[in-house]
Amino acid sequence: MSVTVRVPAKVNVQLAVGGARPDGFHDLANVFLAVGLYDEVTVRPAPSLTITCAGPDADQVPLDRTNLAARAAELLAARHGISPDVHIHIDKDIPVAGGMAGGSADGAGALLACDALWGLGSSRDELLAICAQLGSDVPFSLVGGAALGTGRGEQLTELTVGGAFHWVFAVADGGLSTPAVYAEFDRLNEGAAVPPPVASPALLDALATGDAASLAASLTNDLQSAALSLRPSLAATLSTGTSAGALAALVSGSGPTTAFLTKDEDSAESVAAALMASGTCRTARVARAAAAGATIVNA
Ligand code: C5P
Repeated sequence: MSVTVRVPAKVNVQLAVGGARPDGFHDLANVFLAVGLYDEVTVRPAPSLTITCAGPDADQVPLDRTNLAARAAELLAARHGISPDVHIHIDKDIPVAGGMAGGSADGAGALLACDALWGLGSSRDELLAICAQLGSDVPFSLVGGAALGTGRGEQLTELTVGGAFHWVFAVADGGLSTPAVYAEFDRLNEGAAVPPPVASPALLDALATGDAASLAASLTNDLQSAALSLRPSLAATLSTGTSAGALAALVSGSGPTTAFLTKDEDSAESVAAALMASGTCRTARVARAAAAGATIVNA
């Protein structure tokens, strides 16, 4: 017996970052959009908790208890007084340490899969509370679609999406550490008064109407300068995509994946081809949004 859950990647169409809080986190107005690149997480009974991973970047994925999938199984089991005796297999297609919430996706996927395998029937709210314990982006991986994340990003308000958006993601060589990017954000803003983060009404409206040109005009990421400061070569990737016809380009979350919004599927294919030919990224992937959240695909 096994349970497999499919979980999407995300891009932040707005990432407004406030000043550092006493707990080290930053208050956010974080507009998440789930995109159609997926990891699949399969759990089955085993003598003890073990993890394997397959996929092009599998060698960069930790297979110990630091993996969010393992922590999800442990937290859920502890809450129910049982042992987390499962084998977790991750089929990884989301870039690792890329700013697309791949690790968070695996945490949400393992949580939903273990809940089904163990027949626990946890409510959505119980699962979301464990997701928030696992990390700021994990609740969104469970929910998918589009949502505004406030607090440190874990308090979600679901948003309406009025049409399909076509994206290209340029995958960089090597990852960026999220804490390092936030630390660089703090360094770049030292001494400055960082305004409280607020969601952009124009951006929410563009999502609701499904208008790609309006969404392109309102995309913002306050972590972009920090990611570019740590990885200056991303500037060339961004300009390659816009020269090839993307409506807009930005760093995805804390990077180093860069995201390109295009007007339609054909344009996405040609932007992806230009990015791959340019040598400014490792590969480029086309994906459509919004994608569904974590979903059981076999049980
Ligand atoms: O919540 P998560 O474990 O994904 O956060 C990873 C790191 O990213 C935190 O330790 C912190 O350095 C940074 N972070 C932050 N503010 C947030 C979310 C994350 O400073 N709202």
